[in-house]
Amino acid sequence: MKRRELLLRGASTGAVATLLPALSTSSLAAPTPQFGPGMPDGLPMPPPLAGPSPRLPETDPSRTLLERGWRFHEGEVAVAEPADHNATYLSVKAGNARGAAALAFDDSDWQAVDLPHDWAIAQDVSESANVSQGYRPRGIGWYRRLLRLDESQKGRRLELHFDGIATHATIWVNGSEVAHSWSGYSSVIVDLTPFARFGDELNWIAVRVDATAREGWWYEGAGLYRHVWLVSRPAVSIETDGVYCDPVHQDDGTWLVPVQVSLSNVGETMAEAEISTRLLDPDGREIHRTGGRVSVPPLEQAQVANRFDPGTVKLWSPDSPVLYCIEVDLLHDGEVVDTRRQFIGFRTVRFDPARGMVLNGVETKLKGVCIHQDHTGVGTAIPDALALWRLQRLKAMGCNAIRMSHNAPAKEVLDWCDRLGFLVMGENRLFNPAPDYLAQLEWMVRRDRNHPSIVLWSVFNEEPMQGTHAGVEMVRRMRAAVRKLDRQRPVTAAMNGSFYNPENVSSVVDVMGFNYYQGDYDKFHALHPDKPITSSEDTSAYETRGAFESIPAQQVITSFDKEAASWGATHRDTWKMIAERPYVAGGFVWTGFDYHGEPTPYAWPTVSSFFGIMDLCGFPKTAFGIHSAHWRDDAPVIWLAPHWTWPEYEAPGREGQTLEVFAITNAEAIELRLNGEVIERVPAADRIMGHTFQVPYRPGRIEAVALRGGKVVARAVHETTGAPVALRLTPARQALASDGEDVQAITVDCVDSRGRHVPTANLPVDFTISGGRIIGLGNGNPNDHASEKGSKRALFNGLAQVIVEGDASGRRLTLEAHTAGLRPARLALARAPRAPRPQVPPVPAEMPITDWRRSAGFAQKPDPAFAPVDGDNNSWDFVRSGIAAPAGSSGWRSYRTRFTPWRKVAGEGGTLHFAQITGAAEVWLDGKLVARKTDAAPAALSAPLSAGTGARTLVVLIEAAQGAASGLTGRVYVSA
Ligand code: GAL
Repeated sequence: MKRRELLLRGASTGAVATLLPALSTSSLAAPTPQFGPGMPDGLPMPPPLAGPSPRLPETDPSRTLLERGWRFHEGEVAVAEPADHNATYLSVKAGNARGAAALAFDDSDWQAVDLPHDWAIAQDVSESANVSQGYRPRGIGWYRRLLRLDESQKGRRLELHFDGIATHATIWVNGSEVAHSWSGYSSVIVDLTPFARFGDELNWIAVRVDATAREGWWYEGAGLYRHVWLVSRPAVSIETDGVYCDPVHQDDGTWLVPVQVSLSNVGETMAEAEISTRLLDPDGREIHRTGGRVSVPPLEQAQVANRFDPGTVKLWSPDSPVLYCIEVDLLHDGEVVDTRRQFIGFRTVRFDPARGMVLNGVETKLKGVCIHQDHTGVGTAIPDALALWRLQRLKAMGCNAIRMSHNAPAKEVLDWCDRLGFLVMGENRLFNPAPDYLAQLEWMVRRDRNHPSIVLWSVFNEEPMQGTHAGVEMVRRMRAAVRKLDRQRPVTAAMNGSFYNPENVSSVVDVMGFNYYQGDYDKFHALHPDKPITSSEDTSAYETRGAFESIPAQQVITSFDKEAASWGATHRDTWKMIAERPYVAGGFVWTGFDYHGEPTPYAWPTVSSFFGIMDLCGFPKTAFGIHSAHWRDDAPVIWLAPHWTWPEYEAPGREGQTLEVFAITNAEAIELRLNGEVIERVPAADRIMGHTFQVPYRPGRIEAVALRGGKVVARAVHETTGAPVALRLTPARQALASDGEDVQAITVDCVDSRGRHVPTANLPVDFTISGGRIIGLGNGNPNDHASEKGSKRALFNGLAQVIVEGDASGRRLTLEAHTAGLRPARLALARAPRAPRPQVPPVPAEMPITDWRRSAGFAQKPDPAFAPVDGDNNSWDFVRSGIAAPAGSSGWRSYRTRFTPWRKVAGEGGTLHFAQITGAAEVWLDGKLVARKTDAAPAALSAPLSAGTGARTLVVLIEAAQGAASGLTGRVYVSA
């Protein structure tokens, strides 16, 4: 087979060179002069980036997305108790799952959905629902999908990959229970191979999701919220996550890339496998090639180990995220039959007890944030392009590190982190070394251990057992499990206290992780001078975006970086503690973005958090400016708060009042000017704490100017705007790909008569769209209860966000925004041509009739009423349609089944279809002859199905020709 043919159903076959280039930081991070209040019209968002959002290269062409054509039911589906002994007997047999897990189940009135899907985000908030989960009811949900597998798939290894299901799940394939998932953050990998049916015989997948289960104290979403794939590989193939190729820097300064490829064989005989492994440089050119052979016994695994000595390499770092690629081909008779691509980066990371983190030999502070995985409007079902956009927002602030709190992220998030240059702390969710849970940790490490971005594994977050003997024993086991799979990265645990207990887990981790407790850094360091330390979590400061005064009665918190949780500290105080201590590797601010749930310090009616440096939409709070000043060394930064629109029309106006003004810069000096007049000059700017000024309010123009060597290097300006006159829509990118998958966050604001952003507007806005759909909306107000779905949203402190997805038609996407009294806005987004990724085609809703009882053969035509006696599981065979009765004797057989037509057919009637019957046949429905076939040759047959509720009895009498096979040799189904 040629490589091109091997890539399942047209998966990307682009030359590898075009797949490779890392996204350069400069093309992704918004350039400094163009973000923040430095934008001339005051919009605190960057201008649109060029082109559509990039798409990740294909790394495993054996996967095809299985995201269209699902049916969803919110709520439990009760299964009646088996009626009698015989029904009980049958109910526990393989393939015989009942209720919504049965093929014949009527899902004709379930909702049609595409994945990824988070059903909780569409719920109205309710005071009786869980506060931590954002007051959104979650509950139970069911998904079903039919799947047709071509005959050519027979003998191949077939898998289903569910990248994340919130939260517990049970999965059935063809009526057999095939997987349980006990974590909403781990992939569920189902080996479909032994269960699969081919050709006209349909497969059916049923997933029961229990989102009443909780693993977190934050919004976790509900449902099949990450990608789902059908995987088809040859019988001997490369295992899922079966390439381990993490580069090793050797003591002599050279690099080594050990490549271990795990293969498995689902075939019936011993197989010889040949591997060809190539190392590609950042331009996609092959620089080395090696390979090997191994015998893989049936139903066993085998490994091929190779190594590359790549010589001189370009190093990976946050500033220069250079990626190489390991490409592994599995060959059969010289042809490529399976391929994986694994991107790698060459970098050394060492956590030093005195110097903090040393990256490529250079002390590098972790300028990090903790993130959860939800966003406004879409909840946890975050499209890949939106995941990238969120990371770009962090990059634009100078953030170089992310803690995936408190769980494994989607794989795509880490792929983007590799490409953007983030240092990542991977974190395990459940603290438990029992086998089911250790398997989750092992899955995460195996999946993620090749990423250059991952520099540290955290085995837990804030566990009450951290200061006990049991806690130590648990961490010891979990660390050992990580070590077996990853030779290099250190293990940490995010501790919040108990550091001085006689037994505590700090003694068994490689790097001590402090959550908060900043006052203990020095004491702990003095007691344990040989233990590397990082802050694993810090800050927990509160800000409402765009608010500059705390109003407790309205649950609004000022954005002047003044309020923080009692266990945390302000953004500035926190970073000061970290920045001043070389031995502290760095910090992870709680959090980069606001998230649904955990509305601390408030509760209802607040439904989302205040901790973010950015709000739920990714709009910047003052904290964004503060961290930009702290973290960006590549460009001058200045930030100025608040806005300067406090006029009479927004009664009461602030004329004459003294207002607090905050400015921060990474430059040498700041000058604050009001209407051209210098209010104050600070010759030695404090980069960490910034500066507060008291300014008598006069409308006009307030300006903070950053100076270096007396020269202006950056300026931040706010002007007093007039009343809003028009709405405006600003896209994140200048184009949207036509692949049906690309999405964009569109910023909604309004402008005054001079085209300036009005930061105080709170107007309701209605949207209409063509060429795509709105997948979610938001405005970053933690107290707003309006739905995040639909087509309406109010501006909050001047801003709202609409997330749009383009359809696959390639026509322009047009979004319009309307509000009473203002000029509407219209945005036409150009579409960049890009082929959709292949999707497994949906299967039309037809009710299959698969399970039959078949009588012995008779010389005479049996009476259609002839049936097995109740409880007789022996004298009639259990057969499925699609399979012929053995050839041999002529004569008649009876095929019987009972089925209950789906509700639509029961009400209106339908048609019975026999795709193929071999032999002469009579079809009897409820005791009446409804169709006849006189010719013995295989042929299709159909019969009308009259309306009627309840179970129907279907009997097919088939006469075999002498010596020939006979029977229901094709599928049988009912259509409306
Ligand atoms: C920490 C915890 C986080 C979050 C934060 C809020 O203790 O690890 O998940 O709850 O507090 O301040």
